[in-house]
Amino acid sequence: MLIRRIYQLSLILITTFILIGCQTQQSYEYLWQYYQDYFPIGATFSQYSIDGYRDGLAAHFNSMTLENEMKWIELQPSEGVFNFDMADSMLELSERHNMLVRGHTLVWHEGLPNWVLRNSDQTLVDKETALSRMRTHIYEVMMHFGNTVYAWDVVNEVIEDGNIPLNEEKSNIYRQSDWFNVTGTDFIKEAFIYARQVADENNLDVKLFYNDYGNESPAKREKTIAMLEWLIEENVPIDGIGIQGHYNIGSIDIDEISRTIDMYAELGLEVQITELDINVYDDQNNLAETQNYQNWYHNGLPSSVEEIQTAYYRRLFEVYRSKAAITNVTFWGVADDYTWLDQMPYLNRKNYPFIFDVYHEKKSSYEAITAFRGGQ
Ligand code: GLA
Repeated sequence: MLIRRIYQLSLILITTFILIGCQTQQSYEYLWQYYQDYFPIGATFSQYSIDGYRDGLAAHFNSMTLENEMKWIELQPSEGVFNFDMADSMLELSERHNMLVRGHTLVWHEGLPNWVLRNSDQTLVDKETALSRMRTHIYEVMMHFGNTVYAWDVVNEVIEDGNIPLNEEKSNIYRQSDWFNVTGTDFIKEAFIYARQVADENNLDVKLFYNDYGNESPAKREKTIAMLEWLIEENVPIDGIGIQGHYNIGSIDIDEISRTIDMYAELGLEVQITELDINVYDDQNNLAETQNYQNWYHNGLPSSVEEIQTAYYRRLFEVYRSKAAITNVTFWGVADDYTWLDQMPYLNRKNYPFIFDVYHEKKSSYEAITAFRGGQ
């Protein structure tokens, strides 16, 4: 009798330990599940990747961005001629996997057909024409995608690059693009005001973002903050800032990234990481470990380099998880067989920037960013 009791008690104890163990060592099938208490986790799809990854790798993500198909040149190549077919067909994937969609992008100096800001003799159009074309584009595109898109990159990349700090007159904030040369800063302000008006008048539940790269480096961040403070002072409706997050293993500064997220959050803005990838070439040779390599990893990523990349992914996601202001983290691609970086800075230098490899298998970086829940 006593032996039977002891046996039963032991069974109960063992079951309890296993259950407790399962709670701390939680394992999920898909990446987004690990992050469901933190933020949606997204990937950017291209026409190439949409076929190769559909339903397999796509299931790992609960947010989707289109790499090019929502840019102006794709949606309105000539004035008044809108073409949504490609974007619409790609977005079927987001429906099947219940993904949120980030809209990228409404107003940008690149991916812009010539007719928008240039007359046929190549002189710049006047300000009224520019702003009216911008409003028409914003209206048609936002209305077409409606509530499918939950966050728009309304304005992309208007801050001047480089390490020159903000000057006293605050006259060196902006990129000297055609948009800027025609309208000054009005296009920035008007784009947000008009996008919010379209949303409000048509019951669209969308967040409006400013998006840029390198905006965690001190000089560009200072200028970005000067612009954001101006927009906020003028009551311009902006919900958040996108940090693109195109990093390089030779020059990521995690502390600076962390500080930057806090500084943007202090302005009352949401922060989204919109285009994350970690380039494996240390072109500046800042890392002793990479100096022996030829910078041409055509036969695969050397494990010593992958370890460095994995360590950065681990630390980056630790930082992301620690910030309440972060409301989305999106990779600028899906797996290493397709990345825009293969053509950067010159053609056909194979890169490996993601957490899935060229065969769509999980890399050590996948494990590193899911290990906080006890691994995959
Ligand atoms: C920028 C743009 C993106 C894309 C990348 C390079 O980050 O915002 O749309 O063009 O450059 O692919």
